[in-house]
Amino acid sequence: MTEPTAPTVSVLIDPDWASGSLVDDVRRGLGSRPLRLPPKWLYDDEGSRLFDEITRLPEYYPTEAERAVLAAHAGDVVAASGATTVVELGSGTSDKTRTLLDAFAAADRLRRFVPVDVSEQTLRDAADMLAERYPGLAVEAVVGDFTLHLQHLPANEPGERRLVAFLGGTIGNLYVEERAAFLGALADSLEPGDSLLLGTDLVKPADRLVAAYHDSQGITEQFVRNSLVVLNRELGADFDPGAFSYVPFWDGGLERMDLRLRADTPQHVRIPGADLEVDLGLGEEIQVEISSKFRPAGIRDELAAAGFETVELYTDPAGDFGVTLARLT
Ligand code: AVJ
Repeated sequence: MTEPTAPTVSVLIDPDWASGSLVDDVRRGLGSRPLRLPPKWLYDDEGSRLFDEITRLPEYYPTEAERAVLAAHAGDVVAASGATTVVELGSGTSDKTRTLLDAFAAADRLRRFVPVDVSEQTLRDAADMLAERYPGLAVEAVVGDFTLHLQHLPANEPGERRLVAFLGGTIGNLYVEERAAFLGALADSLEPGDSLLLGTDLVKPADRLVAAYHDSQGITEQFVRNSLVVLNRELGADFDPGAFSYVPFWDGGLERMDLRLRADTPQHVRIPGADLEVDLGLGEEIQVEISSKFRPAGIRDELAAAGFETVELYTDPAGDFGVTLARLT
């Protein structure tokens, strides 16, 4: 039996990154109108726990749908990508990735796995688990922010190809211009012949979308409200999370879910850590997250604009969720 190879962990985020970048985001997002907070601050320990609960809600279909797509098509992805290195952006626990890695291993094409995540502890635990599970696999974990550290991905060995997996529909959290910047930066960090495996939630009737983000147990509401708790804790802010209503709605024009918190009363909020005070009028809203939904042609066009040619769009039988394999030309 091959001995597990010890994982390596490169830390690209300096210890102050989180605090510095949170202050910048809060100054930018709450220092001008419309008020907004970038969704990455939803994922502290409590937020990550709540998101995990969301993925198990009956109304929240994307996680299961994507899992079904990967289970059905992982072998096709291995064959069509020709890759032996898998990079996963925002890997978290690398839960769903195992389906993909199993298919690479079954085809004897799994040499190296590079999970990239901002959470060092989650990454170390996942790296250890994967090194155990796939003896001989080189696990080269990167503690980094996929919007900032793409240029530090490990290079190809001669003749080798990489597959970058960006799953879960997380790209839908970005505004369209942020998506273009992200895909452009990713293309710049790859070589022609490398592939991208991109998970995207698909446009569907509004009632199902709204139900997925306004669940009957109120877990999504807690998840979104927790963003204010993060600001209170990290920046000494004095938000009263109970003084806001959760307002999720489907924006049919922009084809995205828009998740907001609405002030139930006029409020004066102090955020000393960001050296900021905000006056919220009655009914004023803070946009906490968008979750864009896609159509096949739109995915193809956004990828093409960055230099990626779509090889295949795989969907689950119900057509709820799409996973695109695209190759850099
Ligand atoms: C993890 C970003 C894909 O947009 O569906 C779930 C996050 N927010 N419920 C999504 C989320 C509220 C989720 N992503």
